[in-house]
Amino acid sequence: MLTSFPRVPLLSGPTPLERMVRAGSHAGHPQLWVKRDDCMPLAFGGNKLRNLEFWLGQALEQNSDILVIAGAAPSNQVRLTAAAAARMGLECLVLYAGPDLSPPHSNRLLTEMMGAQIRCLGDVDEGMRARLAGQAVADLAAAGRRPYLVGDPIIGALGYVRAARELHEQAVAARLDLRHVVLPGSMGVTEAGMILGAAMLGLPWTFHLVSVEYEAHDLEARIRSILADLCRSSEVEPTHDMLDRVRIHMDQLGAGYGKPTAASIEAGHLFARLEALLLEQTYVAKAFAGLLSCVARGDIPAHEAACIVHTGGTPALFSPVSPLLD
Ligand SMILES: Cc1ncc(COP(=O)(O)O)c(C=O)c1O
Repeated sequence: MLTSFPRVPLLSGPTPLERMVRAGSHAGHPQLWVKRDDCMPLAFGGNKLRNLEFWLGQALEQNSDILVIAGAAPSNQVRLTAAAAARMGLECLVLYAGPDLSPPHSNRLLTEMMGAQIRCLGDVDEGMRARLAGQAVADLAAAGRRPYLVGDPIIGALGYVRAARELHEQAVAARLDLRHVVLPGSMGVTEAGMILGAAMLGLPWTFHLVSVEYEAHDLEARIRSILADLCRSSEVEPTHDMLDRVRIHMDQLGAGYGKPTAASIEAGHLFARLEALLLEQTYVAKAFAGLLSCVARGDIPAHEAACIVHTGGTPALFSPVSPLLD
């Protein structure tokens, strides 16, 4: 049962659901909404804070005293793990992979400010990074500490199973017949959680995933695998293929992960001007550009309400390596 997973509240309540009146009128769609997961009280917020509510639940259940996380310097997940650790009075060990940027990325500066211990692994691939993280956990345990390795995708996805219900309840309260949900498509954690959450409530949502990292078949395989494990561990019996309601859009991958497209840069400026929404370029501006192209192509028809999830990542806007500041 999903309710049996421990959770530590890190949000102060539902994040806002707002109508984008001016952007909607620009795009020729009267019912465009945004779920403001960039508006959370802790350290600029973002989607990873919902994952962390469940990671922290597990960490506290295991009586852990130090969180361990591996990632790259621009990682939002690392920043928010450091934030959650600070808030809970836990230690946090960060293993940074990749180049030591100078000047440092804004997320790394914030991570350090929040008291995380930093260790740099240098240029290692994903497999080696995972092995080194496992080693760090083993070393800490051997030294008598109780480490918790942050990042299990199944536990993390529970945050967005919950978010689907939150969004549905807000839509009902706003008398909104929501039909489309737009998200960046990346590692599949946020995506799988929301897809399962909507399926469990029997909602008629079509998901539009704007791929920012992987080819369509790869993203789909990741989501399928997380969904299968999620159903198994939460004893949910799927009644249909949940991917039936998912469309993957490849038009924003461009030159690859972290590389803006002309459309994502334009979307960044457009939504800032029309809605005062601030979009970083790796995930969020690409999702918003994808939303506009879905509307323009008719994948999201003007008579069907759509909501995009703003997944956060805001500090990247202040990074000296932000593509917008180049
Ligand atoms: C701001 C932001 N949006 C979206 C994502 C993608 O989330 P997921 O890895 O769950 O696909 C991330 C991942 O780091 C993120 O930081």
